[in-house]
Amino acid sequence: MNDQTTGDDEEVRIIKPPYQTPKGVHDILPVDHEYYTFIKKVVRHRLRQAGFRRISTPIFEFTEVFTRSIGSTSDIVSKEMYTFQDKKGRSLTLKPEGTAGVVRSYIENNMQVLPQPVELYYIEPHFRYDRPQKGRYRQFHQFGYEIIGESDPALDTQAIYLAYKILEDLGIAQLFTIQLNSIGCQTCRPQYLTILKDFYFGKERSLCAECKYRLDKNPLRLLDCKQEDCQILAQIAPKLADYLCEECKEYHADVKEFLGELKIQYIENPNLVRGLDYYTKTVFEFWDRTEGAQNAIGGGGRYDGLVELMGGQPTPACGFAAGMERIIANMKREKVRVPHKDDLHVFVAQLGKDAKKKCLPLIVELREAGIKTMGALGKGSIKVQMRLADKFRVPYTVIIGLTEVREGTAIIRDMKVGTQKTFPLEDVVEELIKIIGDENRDVYSPAEAIY
Ligand code: HAM
Repeated sequence: MNDQTTGDDEEVRIIKPPYQTPKGVHDILPVDHEYYTFIKKVVRHRLRQAGFRRISTPIFEFTEVFTRSIGSTSDIVSKEMYTFQDKKGRSLTLKPEGTAGVVRSYIENNMQVLPQPVELYYIEPHFRYDRPQKGRYRQFHQFGYEIIGESDPALDTQAIYLAYKILEDLGIAQLFTIQLNSIGCQTCRPQYLTILKDFYFGKERSLCAECKYRLDKNPLRLLDCKQEDCQILAQIAPKLADYLCEECKEYHADVKEFLGELKIQYIENPNLVRGLDYYTKTVFEFWDRTEGAQNAIGGGGRYDGLVELMGGQPTPACGFAAGMERIIANMKREKVRVPHKDDLHVFVAQLGKDAKKKCLPLIVELREAGIKTMGALGKGSIKVQMRLADKFRVPYTVIIGLTEVREGTAIIRDMKVGTQKTFPLEDVVEELIKIIGDENRDVYSPAEAIY
């Protein structure tokens, strides 16, 4: 997101600073933090409502956690992982996605003894050595959730429904279609893969270099290749839907029926396979209505074999994750404005050491009263301080100069109208509460909730 500014009118541009962020990673400046904070609030609200609890797994894990779960032939593992060795030569990797770590944690922390399903969510940075471009970064943030410990089409439906509701709360659900498919299970998929390979036999010359390689290692991925020639073949390739076992067929029909009950629209996409190897049965993605598969905003599905693959008891699961940078870009595109509480109420300006002595307790008192206050406690002239107050766009300024110190008063200036009035110093807090309005005070204190 290179268009970030501090939000100031005057942009200070430094030509070629000596130190810059590495390619594909960005600072999150205050103007964008408003979006991140809002998204986090919406995600927390929706998921808490549905009984999910938050989890954070480490930023790095043993590399094996990702290679085993995501699959060694996937793009993520074969090209995009930030892998390094620690001082003892152990291979570690910055997490490229959230599911593998959560599953590792589920097993390691013995969560199978908890009431099932265990419903967990996360809001975390992730890392992929992707080619940086619009919507594709090397550090990005995902919110995601996993429902581990039970298999039922109603749970898959819930995972899709929650994602839709969150996007709706964020004001962007209308921009996306839900693409839905079933990629079968260990019973029916192997037979289909043989049929798929047979279909491509003799057609290898029409495939891109990557698909030629995938044909042997991971043929399912041929179905969602973005290259034109590969897509033409994918369109006429045998469809997995025709080879699903009875159980998968019934399961998929139920997911669709339940989505219908919740009035969630979807598009059946027989070529949707997802880029991670752990999926079974239901897979889904949220696609931009105009850009299609490019830059999907989120995706997920069922992964019934993963817990066992990672060394746990056979345990079914499903989940979803979305990219927060892509969400923010779409919120901006839709001109969604987010509420924030960063605006100041009052700026306190002073002149001289005696005035400063009066200001310091006043600033503390104002803040305690829930009035967001900034004090100009430097040595600038009143004029310089007032210019600063203007730049911070505060609605009111309190001024204590030499006369006010002598008389025990303070001036309250309405910055918009340009009028001002003098009050006894001891009345200033009460007066400002009246002007700003009781309902606008920031009196929330997290500490009050401690028990
Ligand atoms: P994923 O489709 O690989 O799924 O990623 C989910 C979302 O993360 C993408 O749709 C996209 O919005 C965002 N994303 C991925 N890579 C980048 C990037 N380089 N830059 C910006 N955003 C990106 C998963 O990660 C699965 N773990 C989802 C899941 C959870 N499946 C089951 N449970």
